[in-house]
Amino acid sequence: MHLSAALSRIAPSQTTAMTDRATQLREEGRDIISLSVGEPDFATPPHVIAAAKAALDAGDTKYTPVGGTSRLKQAAALHFARDLGIAVPPSRVTVSAGGKQAIFHAMLATVSEGAEVIVPAPWWVSYPEIIRFAGGEVVPLLTHAKNNFRFTAADLEAQIGPRTQWLLLNSPGNPTGACYPADLLLGLGEVLRRHPRVLVLSDDIYAPINYTGAPHVTLANLCPDLADRILTVSGVSKSHAMTGFRIGVAAGPEWLIQAMERLQSHSSGNPCSISQAAAVAAFEGPQDFLAGWCERFRARRDLVVAAINAIPGLRTPTPDGAFYCMVDATPLMARFGDDRKLALHLLEHGVAIVPASAFGGSGGFRISFAADEVKLEEACRRIAGAVT
Ligand SMILES: Cc1ncc(COP(=O)(O)O)c(C=O)c1O
Repeated sequence: MHLSAALSRIAPSQTTAMTDRATQLREEGRDIISLSVGEPDFATPPHVIAAAKAALDAGDTKYTPVGGTSRLKQAAALHFARDLGIAVPPSRVTVSAGGKQAIFHAMLATVSEGAEVIVPAPWWVSYPEIIRFAGGEVVPLLTHAKNNFRFTAADLEAQIGPRTQWLLLNSPGNPTGACYPADLLLGLGEVLRRHPRVLVLSDDIYAPINYTGAPHVTLANLCPDLADRILTVSGVSKSHAMTGFRIGVAAGPEWLIQAMERLQSHSSGNPCSISQAAAVAAFEGPQDFLAGWCERFRARRDLVVAAINAIPGLRTPTPDGAFYCMVDATPLMARFGDDRKLALHLLEHGVAIVPASAFGGSGGFRISFAADEVKLEEACRRIAGAVT
């Protein structure tokens, strides 16, 4: 083995043992309900599929500009303005192979050895690994269920130090479903004004999946004076059920967009040309189906929250967005040891979930409710049977 120093800083996926056991059980013919995946179970909208087919037929099969076609950059700029309230010219937009690659390139292009990145925890699994790979240090900002997994301006101020380079924000959040309301974001903006060196990565990939009744809000819109140090990441993976297309978009200051594209020019090059055409249709086409999807997610959320909170030893707050519930199982830890053992136990009872420790949390697990109601009801029945 000749692994690089950078790679040895990255932990293997903490869900590998779970996934391996789930595969083994399925191969033995066991029926496993998977509530571990982070993707909508809805079909990709037909107008998006039609655009992908048309692009193939039109021979759109060659290299495109590294950071995306000018058509898609314009469509993404429309999306940022219409859906996130961020007015940017296409020159401040870049396109990558999923939101994940945008985040990866942003960190790799800017983080030097020893720089600190503040990451609210529980976090999306890839944030800490990307930061460590880039040579940065992760500074966890712990959030708790009793505060709906949100941190305050004072919590942020307490974590900022001389080496802080980035703050990562993710609203609606994976794995907690936490949404940051405008007043909280404005408070964060105040703190950030006192620390002009700190950059912000706002990961808004779940923006359309919001149950608060209030429109989605984001820092670059609320604090336009800070926009030249905010990178807002979005995409079509979650909003348009296009996870396999691998298209993410980011809007930020020109120097950062150019730096990300410089890196991308030597890594993947342009994102898939067919997927880019599909993403144009996603951004420019009808958006009205989103409200229907959101309603279905809300009904599933309500089903899961009620069923889980009826199980002794389990507790979950009601998430405000995305399609995840972070379940606290602390009272069961004395019996099961830790949340990985609990996760394996639930798997033996036919439900795959992800332990909280995979997200920098502890004593609980994440349920993805992007599955149909029948499956969700049965999964909650199995969980109840497994722990009571
Ligand atoms: C919080 C968060 N950000 C970014 C991504 C990346 O999405 P994509 O599939 O577009 O790379 C995910 C995917 O799970 C996510 O949960």
